[in-house]
Amino acid sequence: MTGAAGSLRRLDLCAADEVPPGTMKLCEVDDGELVLVVNLAGRFHATQGICSHQYFELDKGFLTGDSITCALHLSRFELATGEPLDPPAELPLAIYAVVVEAGRVLIEVPGGPLEVNR
Ligand code: FES
Repeated sequence: MTGAAGSLRRLDLCAADEVPPGTMKLCEVDDGELVLVVNLAGRFHATQGICSHQYFELDKGFLTGDSITCALHLSRFELATGEPLDPPAELPLAIYAVVVEAGRVLIEVPGGPLEVNR
């Protein structure tokens, strides 16, 4: 037994049908942390909802293939890894493991504060 140290928690984000393929949605978890849910052709991704460069909501950006482009300074981030593909952003977006269960989109994250890069 390893106790609670390795425990994961699940956070409910939204209904899966609220995010049709090719769209994204900003969801609030915990005490106001924002998570971006993206549906890429039926496959869900979840990243931190605010850009890692400056404070700007990523749902105001646009999906560009397998990446999202922040609308403020046009950095692109790979959705699978969170890595920035263009300047000015240097930090990756935190990405979260998605679970779809009973029509809901959830993320499974380690216990403690949600990981966010800023
Ligand atoms: S705030 Fe997103 S690239 Fe600057």
